[in-house]
Amino acid sequence: MNKQLLFVKRPVGPAEADTWSLVDTEIPDLKDGEILIKQHYISLDPAMRGWMNDSKSYIEPMALGSVMRAGSVGEIVKVNNHPSFKIGDFISAYGGVQKYAVSNGQGCYKVDPKLAPLPTYIGTLGMPGMTAYFGILEVGKIKEGDVVVVSGAAGAVGSIVGQIAKLKGCHVVGIAGGPEKCKYIIDELGFDGAIDYKNEAVRARLKEECPKGLDVYFDNVGGEILDIALSRLKMRARIVICGAISQYNNKMAIKGPSNYLSLLVNRASMQGMVVFDWADRYGEAAKVMGTWLAEGKLKSKEAVFEGIENFPETFNRLFSGEKLGKLVLKVIED
Ligand SMILES: NC(=O)c1ccc[n+]([C@@H]2O[C@H](COP(=O)([O-])OP(=O)(O)OC[C@H]3O[C@@H](n4cnc5c(N)ncnc54)[C@H](OP(=O)(O)O)[C@@H]3O)[C@@H](O)[C@H]2O)c1
Repeated sequence: MNKQLLFVKRPVGPAEADTWSLVDTEIPDLKDGEILIKQHYISLDPAMRGWMNDSKSYIEPMALGSVMRAGSVGEIVKVNNHPSFKIGDFISAYGGVQKYAVSNGQGCYKVDPKLAPLPTYIGTLGMPGMTAYFGILEVGKIKEGDVVVVSGAAGAVGSIVGQIAKLKGCHVVGIAGGPEKCKYIIDELGFDGAIDYKNEAVRARLKEECPKGLDVYFDNVGGEILDIALSRLKMRARIVICGAISQYNNKMAIKGPSNYLSLLVNRASMQGMVVFDWADRYGEAAKVMGTWLAEGKLKSKEAVFEGIENFPETFNRLFSGEKLGKLVLKVIED
């Protein structure tokens, strides 16, 4: 039998428990060319909140009644005549929030649990890590000596952005919620400075941390913090619009930046990004980051919670910030 979390109600504002329904279903017989994945870990991502809205985006909105869309990592336990996968392979997939996923293998790729723990393949070596890598290098175009500021700095994307920028010789300041996260990004990840946006005045602290302004702002949160960052740009600064988590649960319209004329004054640029645009280069990034991980130059942290039935409560930790690192749900024993 399978356990599936169905998406049954489009939320307005934060997603409440009645957004989903947990059901027991039978695992169907595999058609020719299909595989059955026993899912070990499911990825919880802020983007999921956007997928619940019935509006145009970079991906189709989720249909009501469908299995909650999610990245996952698991083991193939059954195969019906697939050219690329066999029983026992571990793979990364978009398996959704369920114990077992049937797939034709599209978008799936093999991972090696001996090289890195499985959750790392949906974190640093998965979609968030790819976002950080291509976002800071290709969109942020960092160079040695740049002053780089990143929000959501203790999270899945932000923590990797900051570490890559440090590896490239930048001065890195992170913005995160709470003293524990701020201590973590400095002591454990080697950031040069940290601003606790929940307890400190961000505008004044950003001035202290970057007295001459910033070259790159990697934005994961949007809202007021984006506006403040815009007020501290250096000439030809780059702003990477990666996400705007502070706005995802809005019941009203998104709050846009009012300081945008700073782009004009400073000949700066602000560019949005979607990680899927670099899909054909994920292998290259995984190789580089895998080497950094093995050499201890890059640290990866996952916050692992357990049980599909705990998905709604766990999902909301993305917004409350009650987790450190990449948020992951463990579904089945390794
Ligand atoms: N464009 C792309 O292709 C792409 C791909 C992946 C992710 N993203 C975006 O990247 C961002 C980070 O994603 P992630 O997976 O790395 O998540 P994450 O940072 O691991 O988790 C979300 C974090 O956001 C912070 N947060 C929540 N509400 C906030 C608010 N109102 N103001 C400021 N911070 C808030 C919380 O940290 P604190 O405790 O510090 O508040 C929370 O831990 C998201 O906006 C996501 O949508 C974009």
